[in-house]
Amino acid sequence: MGNSITDLLNIKYPIVQGGMGNVSDPKLSAAISNAGALGTIGVGTLPAEEVDRRIKIMVEHTDKPCCVNIPISVHPEVEKVMEKVLHNQVPVVSLSAGNPAKYIPMFHNEGIKVICVTASVKQAKKAEESGADIIVGEGYEAAGINALNESTTMTLIPQLSREVSVPVIAAGGIGDGRGLAAALSLGAAGIQMGTRFIAVKESNFHNIYKQAIIDATDDSTVIIGRKYNKIRRIMKGEYTDKLLILENENVSFNEFNEKSSELYHEIGALDGDMENGFINSGQIAGLIDDCPYVIELMERMVEEAKDILKNSTEKLQELSQGDWGIIDEGKRRRNINSS
Ligand SMILES: Cc1cc2nc3c(=O)[nH]c(=O)nc-3n(C[C@H](O)[C@H](O)[C@H](O)COP(=O)(O)O)c2cc1C
Repeated sequence: MGNSITDLLNIKYPIVQGGMGNVSDPKLSAAISNAGALGTIGVGTLPAEEVDRRIKIMVEHTDKPCCVNIPISVHPEVEKVMEKVLHNQVPVVSLSAGNPAKYIPMFHNEGIKVICVTASVKQAKKAEESGADIIVGEGYEAAGINALNESTTMTLIPQLSREVSVPVIAAGGIGDGRGLAAALSLGAAGIQMGTRFIAVKESNFHNIYKQAIIDATDDSTVIIGRKYNKIRRIMKGEYTDKLLILENENVSFNEFNEKSSELYHEIGALDGDMENGFINSGQIAGLIDDCPYVIELMERMVEEAKDILKNSTEKLQELSQGDWGIIDEGKRRRNINSS
């Protein structure tokens, strides 16, 4: 499965792991790269030295391209962290949650490819003008911090694909080959996933987190933080209820921000303590019902997507023989009558 994304990133499959903030696991990212996709560790709000340590573990465990995600407005010392990416010669960087313009030239000067995560046409166009090599369009089905405009992947991707000329990657709500095929049909050249990569054998997330993803149904996630203009999609649960109560009680932004910080995300995701912490999850969790090795997941998704795309010609034939054909015939007659 080769295209503009696989060529640009020098990977086998047009599949990217999304950054996972403080709970990023460098060995998982290496496993994803080894399986032919692009593994990515996130820096979240981690100290630069810890970022350096995790980058070193990731690159030690793979000789394939890998990536570091930097949420620009979230990290308190963003330039220090960027220095670690440059120093370790990570081949790809992904910039999210902020204006990437002033940082892109610095990475390009070192031959590092830049992916910019966006959630609107306006952001995507700005990122393209600033030199982004690849644009990720993330719909609000996605796990974690989302954009306030709440555009869905289904609506965002065709608009981004029409408006920018660099390759587009679809993120948010993708977990199997159907999602991959759909993203390609909407005009994306690849996909980015987060939630699906939680429930894989190689990940270091707590078993309670993995099981929660497997057990989830279509309405297991909820958006928190609307009142504070800082929305985040997380799994429903005991601590999530506490956050929703705080939000209802109109506690201050600072209090809500502290109680929904990465610290409580770590307690949920790594300690599996759902009473005192929360876990990020996208809506696609409802579709996920197993915990495969990454390589199995990649191969399964790609095969399924290929089958779907191959069979689309048959589907088209079926449609033109069925109702669609009749409608077309009706239209033709109406056109003849009205002319
Ligand atoms: C545990 C977790 C942590 C995340 N942290 C970040 C992050 O630090 N930066 C970021 O840009 N996206 C983050 N995301 C979003 C993912 O990178 C990805 O874009 C998103 O999960 C894709 O949607 P999906 O969850 O439907 O697959 C996170 C997602 C998860 C599951």
